[in-house]
Amino acid sequence: MTPFKNICPAPILAPMNPHPPLAHRRILLIIAGSIAAYKSLDLIRRLREAGADVRCILTRGGAQFITPLSVAALSENHVYTDLFSLTDEQEMGHIRLARDCDLVLVAPASANLMARFAHGLADDLAATVLLATDKPVLLAPAMNPVMWQNQATQENLATLIRRGVKIITPESGDMACGETGAGRLPEIAEIVTRVIDFFTAHKPLTGKTALVTSGPTHEPLDPVRFLGNRSSGKQGHALAAELAKAGASVTLVSGPVSEAPPAGVSVISVETADQMLNACLTTLPADIAICAAAVADFRPEAATATKIKKNGDAALHLTLVPNPDILATLARHPQRPGLLIGFAAETNNHLENAHRKLAAKGCDWLLLNDVSGGKVFGKDTNRLTLFRQTPTGTSQTDIPPQSKIDLARHIVAAIIKEYATHDHPA
Ligand code: C5P
Repeated sequence: MTPFKNICPAPILAPMNPHPPLAHRRILLIIAGSIAAYKSLDLIRRLREAGADVRCILTRGGAQFITPLSVAALSENHVYTDLFSLTDEQEMGHIRLARDCDLVLVAPASANLMARFAHGLADDLAATVLLATDKPVLLAPAMNPVMWQNQATQENLATLIRRGVKIITPESGDMACGETGAGRLPEIAEIVTRVIDFFTAHKPLTGKTALVTSGPTHEPLDPVRFLGNRSSGKQGHALAAELAKAGASVTLVSGPVSEAPPAGVSVISVETADQMLNACLTTLPADIAICAAAVADFRPEAATATKIKKNGDAALHLTLVPNPDILATLARHPQRPGLLIGFAAETNNHLENAHRKLAAKGCDWLLLNDVSGGKVFGKDTNRLTLFRQTPTGTSQTDIPPQSKIDLARHIVAAIIKEYATHDHPA
C-alpha cells in the first residue's frame, strides 16, 4: 500500500479481461531521462491494464521530466530512485529489486543509460540493477536523431544486442527537439505488444509435458462421509500455472479443491487416491512430474452403500487399508518422468525425514515444508527447502518464506535452469 494509492482509484486501472495477457507478469520499468519520459506514464497504465504488476525505477534524468508521485500513483507501487536510499534498501535491496521481476523494461532508454549499461557501470540505481539482474532486458531507446545515429550509441547498441538485450527500435519522424529522423519512442500500444510478444516467445519449457498433482484426496466412508485432509491445492495449482506460463503442456490432476483451474492447463478432477493414480498413469509419458497433492495414506477398507448409523454410545471401528503411493509408483514406472519432484510435509525431524523420503520415494527433487502447528495448509505463504539428488549425494537449498505463487515461480525457474544445464535432467 503506498501513500499515493488514494489519489488514483484502482477501478480505473483494473483489468477487465478475465485472462489479461500479462496476468501475474512482474515488470520492472526503468524510466530514463528523455523528453519521451512522459509517455511512460501511459505505458504504466497500459501494462497494468494488460494485467502486469509494474514496479518502477526513475533515474535522476527521468525525474527531470516526470515526478515520482505520478509514477507511484499510476503503478500503485513504491518508486525507486536512489541507490543509497536507506529506506528503499530496507524495503527492497537493489539486488532483490533486480531479480524480483520477470522482465526489465527500459522505456525510454536514454543514450546515457545505454552507454552506462554497455560499459557495465553501476553509478546509479538503474545502472546497478541492469548490471545485477539475471532477468531478460528489453530496451526502448528514445533520443535525438543525431545522438541515436552517433557511432558511440550504435556501438553501445551492438554490444547490448550481442549480449542478448532485446531492443524496440525507435521510430522515425518529427522529434520534440524540432529535428526529424530516427529516435522517437514507438507508440505505447506498440511497446505493450512487444512486451506481450516477449512473454509469448519466452517460453523455455515449450515442447515439454508436465504432470502436477494437487489438493487432497477424499476417501469415501459411506455415501455422505469421507476421510480427507486440509490441503487447499494452492501450491499445486500455482505450480501448474507457472509451468504452463513457461510453455509446458500441463495436465493437473486435482483432488477436490475450491481453487480455480489455472489458465491454459488441462485439468482432470478426481476424488480418491486410486482415481488420482489412474489419472496420472494416463498422462505418461511426461517430462516433468510434480506430486504436490496431499494424498490420503489410508482409505476405509470398503465404503458402505448406505449411511453409517450411530449405535447408541458404541464406538465405531474402521479398518483402513493403505492407498497406493503415486509418487513412488511414478518413480518405478517404466515410463518414469524425466524429472520427478515430490513434497514432504513434516511436523518433526524435518531434515532426517526429508533425506529418508527422497531415497525411499525414488524422486529426483523433494520439497520439504514444515506443517507443524497447522502452518501451510490453506495459507497463502510457505517456506520450502529443496533437496536434490546429485551424482555425488544430496544438495540442499533453503527457499525463503514467500507466497505460494512466488514459490512456484522459484521452483519452475529451477526446473528451467535444470533443463538449460542438462539435456535429460536427473
Ligand atoms: O509419504 P508422504 O505422504 O509424506 O509423501 C509426500 C509426497 O508423496 C508428496 O509429494 C505426495 O504428493 C506424494 N504422495 C503420493 N501418494 C501417496 C502419498 C504421498 O503421491 N499415497
